[in-house]
Amino acid sequence: MKIIKKIEQCRGILEDLKKQGLIIGLVPTMGYLHEGHLSLARKARSQCQKVFMTIFVNPVQFGPGEDLEKYPRDLKRDAALAEDNGIDYIFNPEAGEIYKKDHSTYVQVEGLPDMMCGAYRPGHFKGVATVVLKLFNILPAHKAYFGMKDFQQLAIIKKMVKDLDINIGIVECPTVREEDGLALSSRNKYLAPDERKNASIIYRVLKTAQKKILSGKKQAGVIKREALRELQDNNYIKNIDYFDIRDAASLEEIKDIKTAGDIVIATAVTIGQTRLIDNVVINKKK
Ligand code: PAJ
Repeated sequence: MKIIKKIEQCRGILEDLKKQGLIIGLVPTMGYLHEGHLSLARKARSQCQKVFMTIFVNPVQFGPGEDLEKYPRDLKRDAALAEDNGIDYIFNPEAGEIYKKDHSTYVQVEGLPDMMCGAYRPGHFKGVATVVLKLFNILPAHKAYFGMKDFQQLAIIKKMVKDLDINIGIVECPTVREEDGLALSSRNKYLAPDERKNASIIYRVLKTAQKKILSGKKQAGVIKREALRELQDNNYIKNIDYFDIRDAASLEEIKDIKTAGDIVIATAVTIGQTRLIDNVVINKKK
């Protein structure tokens, strides 16, 4: 496995691989790899002949006062894990390689980023869309792999790909969880042991809401209020940004479940100092 630091080097290698007619996969990450990231790597490995992983803590998607400086980084550990899970190349640029001093162009998907996490992290999805498009331009792979854990991010990337005619297939990968249901996240490292123990409430409350819908409860408002109450009753939850029941495609809020299509139930809460997100999907057509 090779670690690449420079854009030009990426382009050269990718061009060679494409000339050989190989199918190329791309797995964008911010590193500090866990089983969630590695499941994407393995999926890419199974579908592609060469796989690039990007490891880049993208400064423009962090707001003022967020955890850019303390975001966990460990390239040596990541490189070993990536190699064991079938990655052929890691692109790990310095921030100055991606954002030159005079950088002034950003990608703004309209609509989808205004709600849910976007309402609480202004500019976050503009930063995500910008870096993902840059990574797509630096490494125009055949397929790129993203996790459903970040459901809104995935929806925004799919919209950007569609709106801007980007010729890369987006592969959606299911959320990988700990045994107690907590979705794996690089930020779980911030949780103190008692906070970690209590964090399992997030998935529990999502599953309870999902069960209510599957068993025929129709009023989204009531299900939402019951979920909020359960979250509010937990002393470790310092803040609830949202607990929403939304259309999985448009991300519009659902009022009547009877007439709804596919549904996503999504939440963002702060446990101690750590903001965590998670979601479950209800596929009505299946
Ligand atoms: P990061 O949080 O490192 O996540 C990288 C990819 O791993 C994303 O597609 C994310 O959805 C996926 N992922 C994270 N946790 C997961 C889990 N528990 N199960 C399955 N997949 C999981 O998301 C980002 O980085 C950045 O915003 C990025 C897209 C790289 C742009 O900077």
